[in-house]
Amino acid sequence: MEKIIDIITKEAAKAFSDCGYEEKYGMISVSNRPDLCEYQCNGAMAAAKAYKKAPIMIANEVVEKLKDKEIFSMVEAVMPGFINIKLSLEFLKTYMNDMLNTENQGCEKAKEAKTIMIDYGGPNVAKPLHVGHLRSAIIGESLKRMGRFMGHKVIGDVHLGDWGLQMGLIITEMKKRQPELVYFDESYTGEYPPEAPFTISELEEIYPAASAYSKEHPEYKEEAMQATYLLQHGNRGYQALWNHILEVSVNDLKKNYEKLNVEFDLWKKESDAQPYIPEMVQYMKDNGYAYLSDGALVVDVKEEKDTKEIPPCMILKSDGASLYNTTDLATIVERMKLFRPDEIIYVVDKRQELYFEQVFRCARKTKLVEEDTSLRFLGFGTMNGKDGKPFKTRAGGVMRLEHLIGEINEEMFQKITQNHEVEENEAKDTAKIVGLSAIKYGDLSNQASKDYVFDVERFTSFEGNTGPYILYTIVRIKSILNKYKEQGGSIEGLQAVKLDETNESAKSLVLEAARFNGVIENAFAELAPHKVCSYIYNLANTFNHFYHETKILAEEDEEKKESYIALLLLTEKILETSIGVLGFEAAERM
Ligand code: ARG
Repeated sequence: MEKIIDIITKEAAKAFSDCGYEEKYGMISVSNRPDLCEYQCNGAMAAAKAYKKAPIMIANEVVEKLKDKEIFSMVEAVMPGFINIKLSLEFLKTYMNDMLNTENQGCEKAKEAKTIMIDYGGPNVAKPLHVGHLRSAIIGESLKRMGRFMGHKVIGDVHLGDWGLQMGLIITEMKKRQPELVYFDESYTGEYPPEAPFTISELEEIYPAASAYSKEHPEYKEEAMQATYLLQHGNRGYQALWNHILEVSVNDLKKNYEKLNVEFDLWKKESDAQPYIPEMVQYMKDNGYAYLSDGALVVDVKEEKDTKEIPPCMILKSDGASLYNTTDLATIVERMKLFRPDEIIYVVDKRQELYFEQVFRCARKTKLVEEDTSLRFLGFGTMNGKDGKPFKTRAGGVMRLEHLIGEINEEMFQKITQNHEVEENEAKDTAKIVGLSAIKYGDLSNQASKDYVFDVERFTSFEGNTGPYILYTIVRIKSILNKYKEQGGSIEGLQAVKLDETNESAKSLVLEAARFNGVIENAFAELAPHKVCSYIYNLANTFNHFYHETKILAEEDEEKKESYIALLLLTEKILETSIGVLGFEAAERM
């Protein structure tokens, strides 16, 4: 459906042009004085300069053309030349009925469906999933869902970190602990056991132990580097061990992501890009993009417009080893080859921004991507604790994601069982659903690039700008709809037939609901889930205001009652669709 703001803009543009002014002055915006009007046009002020006339005169002329249009209930020129606008209830009623009956509540699919890859999650094999990876997963998942909602083909790729020194460290540590394992027997030529020689908990203990030890013992680190090299160059035993590490880690990661309602289409890994490296390097050399600098192979990526120094992108180290850059560039080659995306979006810690700037420039300069492929970096800030420092456990350690989720669910469980009598199992299930909304909304409601404070108490509150508050509002609407049905009402094909001017809060709710299509479109274009959050927060507030002001089920005028129920239905659909694209869902009861 056409956005309301566009409908009004068209009318205003025509009015300006009918009065002999350029159409562009008809731009409309949502009013910043809701006490005076709903929409406004400030074009007369700009036109006044161009046509050397008093703005109020122009505004008056334009208002003359607009004021009798059916879609408006008020069009007014006010000093010095603003045009204040209110929409007619008749028009809004039709618009809201159309929204109710249109797929996606009137949010149109993008004219051109693009293939978009989202690189998010980015966990590292064998390291426990910790809160640092939470943001990438939550934000990326929501972008993926928004993109799909807009009709794009979106492919989510977890891009597992499986290729670095961490692998060599684990292998080295395993060898130290269990040298008798067949993986370390160089003369062994048979099949390796199908079962991994460790569990996930063991694995998660091995890595930090190895990492800490290597920092104190250079010879151990040297050995780990050697093991990494051997692994990457085809040592059979190490590769078998590495496969075990992968399998055990991936199983665990999948379980964790499932708890978060996060689902990847691709479980690609850094190692998958390795086969593309030799050819890519050769190509960069052959075409004169890459040159040797102090033994290392680099590509210059600085540009004239730079205000800060952008160092060259290193492709190979002087010993010929590849780097994080090399893998990312080769991954771009692979993605172009397999999926030919129009866009790749990276959802990664903002501290990697400069790094990605280099990678993008290098990919563009060396034409690894087509001119029209866009590479976008969405950097997110740190999730901090109340002390303003990166979020930690009470004991000061790195918080495992699992534990964080557990803690929130426990908090939610307490709240739910405090509120009312509820069966334990049901309360547990509800706590999980509401807990997830607390975590995800708490994260997504902040602009991604900003650091934010993860405040358990605030995020789990049923009041204020929180996930539980949104769910609570949805549950409230559902319960009214259910009562309506119990009283014999049917919500099938329900339409608003009668809304009256005297109920301001009903009109505000229709107006807010009608903004939905514009909000989602814009939030996706700007990769800004927080805009969806702030919209549903307003919508929920507007609804709750309406709820407190209005007799709904007790309304005696049947047509009015039906119209209110239709409005509730629409509000509920919009809220549910919105939390769906944010990546969580509502409970039946709370
Ligand atoms: N594994 C990386 C990390 O933990 C994040 C990966 C981000 N994606 C990418 N294509 N580099 O920092």
